[in-house]
Amino acid sequence: MSNRGSFGSKIGVVLAAAGSAVGLGNVWRFPTEVGNNGGAAFILIYLFSVFFIGVPVMVSEFVIGRNTHANTITAFRKLAPKTWWRIGGIEGVFVAFFISCYYIVVSGWTLHYTVASFLNRLSGDQDYKAFFNSFVSNPWEPIIYTVVFMLMTHFVIVRGVERGIERFSKLMMPMLLLIIAVLVICSFSMSGFAEGITYLLRPDFSKVTPSVVLSAVGQAFYSLSLAMGCLCTYASYFGPNTNLMKTAMSVSVIDTCVAILCGFIIFPAVFSVPGVEPGEGPGLVFITLPHVFNIAFHSVPLIGFLFSSLFYLLLLLSALTSAISLHEPVTAYIHEEWHVSRHRAAGMVTAGCILLAIACSLSMGVWNGFRIGGLCLFDLFDFVSAKIILPLGGIIICLFVGWRLDRQLVYNEVTNNGSLRIRLFRLYIFLVRWVAPLAISIIFINELFLS
Ligand code: PHE
Repeated sequence: MSNRGSFGSKIGVVLAAAGSAVGLGNVWRFPTEVGNNGGAAFILIYLFSVFFIGVPVMVSEFVIGRNTHANTITAFRKLAPKTWWRIGGIEGVFVAFFISCYYIVVSGWTLHYTVASFLNRLSGDQDYKAFFNSFVSNPWEPIIYTVVFMLMTHFVIVRGVERGIERFSKLMMPMLLLIIAVLVICSFSMSGFAEGITYLLRPDFSKVTPSVVLSAVGQAFYSLSLAMGCLCTYASYFGPNTNLMKTAMSVSVIDTCVAILCGFIIFPAVFSVPGVEPGEGPGLVFITLPHVFNIAFHSVPLIGFLFSSLFYLLLLLSALTSAISLHEPVTAYIHEEWHVSRHRAAGMVTAGCILLAIACSLSMGVWNGFRIGGLCLFDLFDFVSAKIILPLGGIIICLFVGWRLDRQLVYNEVTNNGSLRIRLFRLYIFLVRWVAPLAISIIFINELFLS
């Protein structure tokens, strides 16, 4: 495909892929997992999962994408024509679409909280639980924010790869890192800093059980945006000189540092307010934190205002760069395979996502009674895509690159046709053939049947 977009610079490649990886999972999920699961002991296992399972899978996605220069479905078809392996590509595009549909709902909430904190509505002694509940169960408000958020994503996507995704990531990622630095510095001055950091980092190996190991691997997978077609699609825009191994390492290091630093921001604040339990997920971010920010900075409301506004802006930007990377695999597929313009393809994806997102959003409120298998639509999307399709996709990618693809082709991609010396190539092949698929299979079976 001659007129395909491509990234214009190495830094653009790293920042776009890191933008996909750094997301809500880093800000709200990682710190809680660390705190609950043995502090530094969990971080150690997590690092192991990132570098021994996550990086090999990421490199494999890069190999598939860059070798074919095509959307994920076409990529699998090109590499293994007329075989069942094409399911790997179909999975990537579908899961990206379905994850988008509920990811943008939560992203819409972050937009609402960003606006509310900049308008100083997240201040004062109010019931933040009621504030959150009345917002998400309102039929209109969350939908409006979700639609606005989706249109922001759409606006970047229609501008194309270099002028849209790359330029936006180059602007947003440094801003995001700057916000993190400011917030971390602020949190040094909090009364709960020592206690918060101790909670986060104290190594407690007694808490490490097999299920903790499994959640570390699961978290690594989600946080690095693996098996969703996102990184594979981005890699299809890489140039011939991009060093795949180095890019995967840089993205993983950035993602992990951001995750740990988010813990440095959240827990000192939580522990500065007596009697507050560090909850998790949406409860932590949308209920506990506004309350905590408000009390922790009671004496200097201006700093409280700035801290909370910056925090929600951080959340919003990280969600935006991730949502863009979820939009792209589907847009690229429709554009290239259905032969419609990129504009039109993006419009179709945006419209489809908005429709399903509205249903997801309503399922948290007025449609809450409609359940399938005991789950409301929002939870069902999350369960099916993250717990079932995602691990299966991960296994397919490993088996495909480890066993099906020609070893020489993989070698040529990883070493840029022999011009790079990659000493760890054999280790990479071993990990992708054995370690990663086995580890993911164990998680999958455990999550689905044993927990
Ligand atoms: N990696 C993102 C996060 O940590 C989530 C995500 C999943 C982003 C899939 C893009 C694609 O939140």
